[in-house]
Amino acid sequence: MTDQQLRVSKIENGTVIDHITGGQALNVLAILDIDGSRGETVSIGMNVPSDRLGRKDVVKVEDRELSQSELDVLSLIAPAATINIIRGYDVVEKHRVERPDSVTGVLDCPNAHCITNENEPIHSQFDVLEDGIRCVYCDSIIREQIADHIKV
Ligand code: CTP
Ligand code: ZN
Repeated sequence: MTDQQLRVSKIENGTVIDHITGGQALNVLAILDIDGSRGETVSIGMNVPSDRLGRKDVVKVEDRELSQSELDVLSLIAPAATINIIRGYDVVEKHRVERPDSVTGVLDCPNAHCITNENEPIHSQFDVLEDGIRCVYCDSIIREQIADHIKV
């Protein structure tokens, strides 16, 4: 895409999450716990034409870098995402997200009786399988719509 066709402005400092599966941008914001209430500057492109993906979403978060646990969950809903760290308008780091062996925090177990839902000081943890994720405490498996289990 030429600068003339640029849909969302470049940012000076922060993180650009590019090549997000089309339609998943709002779920990415939920993973990052961004709802605008803390005054963060965030730009979003949804279903933008992409050579590689056909359609992609893009999320640009200014003045923030992402934690490993955020990146781990992100990889489950946007496996082709590219993380670009921007400093002084330059891309100083670029890497693909990687599917982790397990994810901690960020997601809720769907089993209401799971110990992670009992107000105990325990973080949820899921092992990542080929076709879903499995709670390490109660063995519940989430196969679809992982984004529906993002903590609110
Ligand atoms: N970007 C930005 N602000 C900057 C620099 C880059 O918002 N100051 C965005 C670009 O718009 C792009 C992403 O960060 O969405 C990656 O930038 P760049 O590596 O320059 O683009 P490409 O070469 O097209 O990236 P890729 O090869 O990963 O597709
Ligand atoms: Zn559980």
